[in-house]
Amino acid sequence: MSKTALVSVKNLTRLFDVSKPLLNRIIERESRKFLRAVDDVSFDIVEGETFALVGESGSGKSTVAKMVVGLLPPTKGSIRIYDLDLADKSQHRKLQEMRSQIQMIFQDPFASLNPRWRVDKIIAEPIRAFNLEADDNATDKRVGELLTVVGLDPSDGRKFPHEFSGGQRQRICIARALASKPKFIVCDEPTSALDVSVQAQILNLMRDLQDEFNLTFLFISHDLSVVRHMATRIGVMYLGRLVEISDSKNLFKAPKHPYTKMLLDAVPDLEMSGRERKPVEGEIPNPITPPSGCTFHPRCPFVNERCRKEIPATIEANDSIVACHAVEEGRLG
Ligand SMILES: Nc1ncnc2c1ncn2[C@@H]1O[C@H](COP(=O)(O)OP(=O)(O)OP(=O)(O)O)[C@@H](O)[C@H]1O
Ligand code: SF4
Ligand SMILES: [Mg+2]
Repeated sequence: MSKTALVSVKNLTRLFDVSKPLLNRIIERESRKFLRAVDDVSFDIVEGETFALVGESGSGKSTVAKMVVGLLPPTKGSIRIYDLDLADKSQHRKLQEMRSQIQMIFQDPFASLNPRWRVDKIIAEPIRAFNLEADDNATDKRVGELLTVVGLDPSDGRKFPHEFSGGQRQRICIARALASKPKFIVCDEPTSALDVSVQAQILNLMRDLQDEFNLTFLFISHDLSVVRHMATRIGVMYLGRLVEISDSKNLFKAPKHPYTKMLLDAVPDLEMSGRERKPVEGEIPNPITPPSGCTFHPRCPFVNERCRKEIPATIEANDSIVACHAVEEGRLG
């Protein structure tokens, strides 16, 4: 990749222990059980771009997000941000400094705001935590600026979160995220709790802010039509694995992986091209006992014997990757 990778994720894996309590296991003669929420995921995010992760519920998107911002340690694999390894204890000081440059915006703007704090205190918190302004006056001024930047009024700072609508609360979360002058923001379903009409306003705001402050986004959504208007590149996840990564335009024009095709077929035909909309077929299997080989095989129209046995390797071609035997064998035409 020619441009600098701001984030580089390699072979990221996260297991969750979902075993029954010890006594139950002894009595029921059961061994410990692990759920593989994220399995061998690798991707780079280039400075200034929006890299999106899409996939149905439970595919591991939020788990990736939490690991990338350092809220959850990986079981295996590495995350490098500006070439600093998040797990490298010897770089503790540099990592602490970098913390202010990484922020996260969550799905539920109400749950992520302290209901007992006034909005100005909420937005000032990162400024105080990272010691970014000289005194209280400068902090107040900066909070007022941030409220204006996200389309609110500086006087809104005196109010409590419950006095705002869902969209306005998400604006408050964005202001708080911007307070520490971050370079990289992880947005986990930032608009999926909002009304459709408000979603577009928040997405437009995020794009404007990205241009203004040269932000890099990891943008997570289960909704491909939202991702289409936000992302430069898209990674498609299925049961913890990345099955396809492609430039956003290419992914919509020429999806390669059968799962990506299935997701795209379910997106409404907004261009009125006459394409028939097909609902996503089948159910996501239980992630504690995933299918063998390619985990998509029970739902895939192109499955063969090899798919049931062998995990498909990722094949790279023209800046995109895909993990599918049928693509590799040229069976999809
Ligand atoms: N703390 C945990 N303990 C046990 N299992 C977990 C934990 N967190 C997540 N999981 C499981 O890991 C898998 C991936 O979850 P994750 O929340 O990352 O998916 P997601 O793609 O963000 O889904 P959604 O679209 O519903 O937000 C799921 O099967 C989930 O049940
Ligand atoms: S590897 Fe096989 S089962 Fe999996 S998506 Fe490709 S064709 Fe379908
Ligand atoms: Mg999630």
